Amino acid sequence: MSMQGVNNEDNVDLNKQQSREVRRRSLRLLFSLIRGIRLRLVGSFFMVLVSQALRVVGPGLITFAIDRALPAAIKGDMKLAWLTAGAYLICAIGSAATTSFFLVYAQRTNQAVLFQLRDRLFRHTQMLSLEFHEKYTSGRVISRQTNDIDSIKELLDTGGNEMVAGIIYMIFTGIALASLDFQSFLILLFAFVPLAILTRWFQKQTKFWYRKSRVASAKLIVHFVETMTGIRAVKAFRKEKRNQDDYNVLVEDYRSINAKVIQIFGIYDPGLTMIGNITVAAVLLFGGMRAMHGDFSIGLLTGAILYTKRFFDPMENIAQFYNAYQSANSGLEKVSGVLEEDPTVPEPTHPDVLAEPKGALDFDNVEFHYSNGKTILPDFNLHIPAGQTIALVGTTGAGKSTLAKLVSRFYDPSAGTVALDGHDLRKIANDDLRRAIVMVTQEAYLFAGTISDNIALGKPDASSDEIMAAAKAVGVHEFIMSLPDGYQTDVNKRGGRVSAGQRQLISFARAFIADPAVLILDEATASLDIPSERLVQHGLQTLLKGRTAIIIAHRLSTVSIADRVLVMEHGRIIEDDAPAKLIAGTGKFAKMHKAWRDSLA
Ligand SMILES: Nc1ncnc2c1ncn2[C@@H]1O[C@H](COP(=O)(O)OP(=O)(O)OP(=O)(O)O)[C@@H](O)[C@H]1O
Ligand SMILES: [Mg+2]
Repeated sequence: MSMQGVNNEDNVDLNKQQSREVRRRSLRLLFSLIRGIRLRLVGSFFMVLVSQALRVVGPGLITFAIDRALPAAIKGDMKLAWLTAGAYLICAIGSAATTSFFLVYAQRTNQAVLFQLRDRLFRHTQMLSLEFHEKYTSGRVISRQTNDIDSIKELLDTGGNEMVAGIIYMIFTGIALASLDFQSFLILLFAFVPLAILTRWFQKQTKFWYRKSRVASAKLIVHFVETMTGIRAVKAFRKEKRNQDDYNVLVEDYRSINAKVIQIFGIYDPGLTMIGNITVAAVLLFGGMRAMHGDFSIGLLTGAILYTKRFFDPMENIAQFYNAYQSANSGLEKVSGVLEEDPTVPEPTHPDVLAEPKGALDFDNVEFHYSNGKTILPDFNLHIPAGQTIALVGTTGAGKSTLAKLVSRFYDPSAGTVALDGHDLRKIANDDLRRAIVMVTQEAYLFAGTISDNIALGKPDASSDEIMAAAKAVGVHEFIMSLPDGYQTDVNKRGGRVSAGQRQLISFARAFIADPAVLILDEATASLDIPSERLVQHGLQTLLKGRTAIIIAHRLSTVSIADRVLVMEHGRIIEDDAPAKLIAGTGKFAKMHKAWRDSLA
């Protein structure tokens, strides 16, 4: 599926063709979920049939009791009365037992489906390329995994079972009434006309308002998540008041939409009851008249009234189901949207063999733009021999990080090729690629767990000696030892909190232990103070030995350890030489370097 689908995901106004495609997509997901549980579904259905059939027998037995068993009992023959009472009891117990069995059974099936869906959604979302995640906000991702899955869960938990049971119950009741007294059944059929009109109106209304309600609640979540993830910026800029106002508007929106939904129910429910009561009254009147003329027994009349009255019982539940169905459906639509996103950087099916990566990089006629964005790299050619240390400098927005993302294959070039040791990156298996090329960014994310775990991320089977050696190499060992539990300190516990600079040092250790052929540092030393940076620089020389490195840094101190400096401007390399040569020259870099030297003095 294209990215267009993502943009339209939360948009209510889809055009016809899009909404058809969305429907098809969510049906596909539904079928794929059902495929694994077909047998269970058949089993559940059978149990519902039995339990509902047993429920419907009741009024028929009462008819029999009034017309046959009672007169016989009055004459002193209790046999039929006992028999009817016994049958009634057996049906009641049988129906209760099968219903309970069915509910437990159906619940198990539902849980299996939900498990499968949650698992799939997590795996798929995580697998999608960075391009997806740079577009699809975390609020929306969270909304998929919480809100939408919950709505599907709600449908499965209550709606589905009751709706299937309700419809079967109505069909059985209709059949029972028709065979008991066809004329009463015809009256019931008449009642179908207003019932159908009312229900159609209800469906249309709830469909519309339910969609709105889902969008409004998703907006609430997105706003909430955004505020809380950006809470530092919110506090720093005293944005609380504005956020609060925005939030209040959203809450009010959501409230008024829900009020509208309740209003619709306020019309539908009493309407339903009224139609039911009028039908019962009609059956009573018509049956009473026939009874008066003696061609309708009291037993039949009682049975007909009971069936007519009971016929409408599940209607309310079915209406509720429609509700749950509406929200589950839009949940399904959105979840299926994410599940049908393809990774924009797909793994090759027949990858090249990459035994010992050397680390030579080549850009051949690379053109790059982000999807529907302006061209960032117009025509890029660059050869980096294996083992060379590059310092990449240039003004903000020049395209340095973009270049780094292309080397890491977070994105594929729009045209041309990026190659490692002569292999197009698109032909290298993901595992090989991740082993060969590692990027360290300013973000330096630490995951929940110990410091040791976080370093070992670069090499999952690393021994504790290796972990310590890596920490020593980048000069973070002393700091780690000063933490309460040393390497076993939990980064999320009190005392385990580390500063931005310390985080960067730890992520260096992570990169060091991964031992990649190509290492990219994108502003990876930006949070370090001058002494720490010196320390890292010392470590960097160890870290960079024997591998290709691209160091992106605004602070030019890193440049001293580079073999070659590339100056980038508007997606082009404008200077490319050894640092000493460039500094001695009169170009852009010489000016940058002089300004930087002056700033230090
Ligand atoms: N995910 C994205 N989607 C669309 N455009 C992007 C994306 N990321 C960056 N850009 C655009 O690409 C251009 C280059 O950005 P890039 O991050 O490569 O610059 P940079 O040289 O790393 O800058 P800095 O020194 O500020 O880190 C910018 O104009 C930016 O607006
Ligand atoms: Mg950048």
